Amino acid sequence: MSDPDPNDTFAQARARHDELARRLRDARYRYDVLSAPPMTDAEYDARFRELEALEAAHPELVTASSPTQRVGSPPAGAFPPFTHLQPMLSLDNAFSSEELAAWAQRVARRLAAATGAAADEEQAQAADAPPMGYVCELKIDGVAINLVYRDGVLATAATRGNGEVGEDVTAQVLTIDDIPYRLTVEDPPAVLEVRGEVYYPLADFDAMNAERIEQGEAAFMNPRNAASGALRQKDPEVTRQRPLAVWCHGIGQLEGLAFDRHAQALDWLDAAGLPVAPETEVVHDLDAISVFVQRATERRHDVGYEIDGVVVKVDDLRQRELLGFTARAPRWAIAYKLPPVEQQTRLRAIEVNVGRTGKATPYAVLDPVLVAGTTITYATLHNELQVQAKDVRVGDTVIVRRAGDVIPEVVGPVLAERPEHAEPWSMPADCPFCGEPLVRPEGEANHLCENVDCPNRLRESLTHLAGRGALDIEGLGEQTVDLLLAEGLVADLADIFRLHEHREALLGLEKWGAKRVDNLLAGIEAGRTRPLDRVLVALNIRHLGPTYAKLLARALPSLQAIRDADPETLEAIDGIGPIIARAVHSWFATPRNAQLVDDLVALGVTADAEVAPGDADVDPDLLAGWTVVVTGTLEGFTREEAKEALEVRGAKVTGSVSGRTSLVVAGADPGSKRDKAASLGVPIADEAGLRRLLEHGELLDVPAGDRESP
Ligand code: IVH
Repeated sequence: MSDPDPNDTFAQARARHDELARRLRDARYRYDVLSAPPMTDAEYDARFRELEALEAAHPELVTASSPTQRVGSPPAGAFPPFTHLQPMLSLDNAFSSEELAAWAQRVARRLAAATGAAADEEQAQAADAPPMGYVCELKIDGVAINLVYRDGVLATAATRGNGEVGEDVTAQVLTIDDIPYRLTVEDPPAVLEVRGEVYYPLADFDAMNAERIEQGEAAFMNPRNAASGALRQKDPEVTRQRPLAVWCHGIGQLEGLAFDRHAQALDWLDAAGLPVAPETEVVHDLDAISVFVQRATERRHDVGYEIDGVVVKVDDLRQRELLGFTARAPRWAIAYKLPPVEQQTRLRAIEVNVGRTGKATPYAVLDPVLVAGTTITYATLHNELQVQAKDVRVGDTVIVRRAGDVIPEVVGPVLAERPEHAEPWSMPADCPFCGEPLVRPEGEANHLCENVDCPNRLRESLTHLAGRGALDIEGLGEQTVDLLLAEGLVADLADIFRLHEHREALLGLEKWGAKRVDNLLAGIEAGRTRPLDRVLVALNIRHLGPTYAKLLARALPSLQAIRDADPETLEAIDGIGPIIARAVHSWFATPRNAQLVDDLVALGVTADAEVAPGDADVDPDLLAGWTVVVTGTLEGFTREEAKEALEVRGAKVTGSVSGRTSLVVAGADPGSKRDKAASLGVPIADEAGLRRLLEHGELLDVPAGDRESP
């Protein structure tokens, strides 16, 4: 935010005000109604603050139609209008702990004034006042929803609209599993308005987008827009296909029931069968609020849905009444904003990387920008179809997103800021590393460099071959690979197993003593004998990750047998589809690859060892129909291994807990997912339970009747 320049003439201020108001209104409409905002939330917040500053300097500019006085957008007519029983307001924001403290002080002052005590916080505290109670909640980045229950039955569900009148999306909301049609309490109130946020669970969002990207379809910008788009489908059957979920965080109109405190109301909603986020805490001072904010910042990517802040609310409902509202927000609550996961920056160039399987991936070179605490200079653009679907052009201002451990990506351009001569982008004809043509196989979204000896493919293949999931060669990391390539000591994958012949040359490397050389050679020696599935992974075959490599190795237990198999034989293996069957067959059929396998075998790479122990004879349908979430640290499995062990038995493993989850496996330090499972009544198993499940296909220790196998 910048203060308005005091030299600004009023006319200038008004012109800027009009411009900002117009852009903010347009952005708001595109956000609420089209599910496709033209700028990031961070940019919106910054412009909004600029508008507030202008209005503070020139109060004449405040009109009833200013975005600072309004909530949301008027209903667009796609759905029947619904007048909320009580208005749905917005929240004021705080962007620093100072602003948060200032809010708490304003609250204390107003309460003191309203109750006739001294208008000084300390004196008010001293005068035997009970300690201030605040409820801290996560601020869910979803779509606001109002659920009206009459006599315990869902009568209407509506979007926020302009805060007074929203859109009736009852049919769409009824497809969401989390939302009860009937409340589960004995004596439901005559009228109950529940306020909540509809969201798209992150794991589902990532999976959906990965699939769309693989298919060359337009990816969704972010989970919020995906949720908004899914909720605003005219045909509720389309909404039903999307895994939407809800968290309830408040009450509007309430008749036939009363509460003293917000925390009580949340507990009651929970008991009534409504989903209430477990990460909610009652605290009594600013320090405790800071601790909550700190924890939310650290865990923001573990909760399974996107959050953009922490909402702090006065707990005592009588105090809330005394505090009241401004035109657009309650005075009794504030949203503390977390660093945004999306930012705008300039796209300097689009370059292409070629990975270990030959896949050519365009990526953005950006003006460095801070996104959720990390400076981003590169971001993936996935493939040519994605670049074209998003219409991203060099010179554009683009929106960059980095959510958790997902690699940063460019989600789209800010069209209003496109330079005049920006040209659409297309994939270069030739590989930037070896000059061979890039080809796009029929029906695929990705371009490939088919040159097995392409220097960049080789570099990435070597690193992968040495990696944990493949031959696990200690001492052979990315930098060593680069050095060996630069020194001409390796020219293909098999050369790794010839390195012992070059001990002298290795000893001659700068800063390489005998110890380091011997460690590397010992690491390579150990890598010579690995189970077949890991050898398969090491070969860098397209689409062949560890799960499928295990299925293959189990069905055809020698490298020769896999090599000899035709696509039909491969496809007949349980769990192997046509894409993998074709990829495996064509890899072995390529003469250069066949030569490589011959060399590796001749060099003693054991290619017919057994599959990793304990995994033989797995029934691929043992856990069909199970949806499992794994959380916390397990002793005998990495998270990946547990996931894989479940998946090869037919279970679906997801990242977030919902009413559809069959089981949560909780290791040490499980965090919020375990709490959520407990609050939803989803069974929770420990590591021993997981082992029993993997062996028997059922949870033997859960009392009968508590849960049946799904
Ligand atoms: S309380 C009177 N609590 O954020 C308004 N809102 O930016 C009370 N939101 O309109 C809102 N998580 O749609 C509240 N835990 C939470 C929330 C939350 C997300 C949304 C809500 C609100 C918007 C304001």
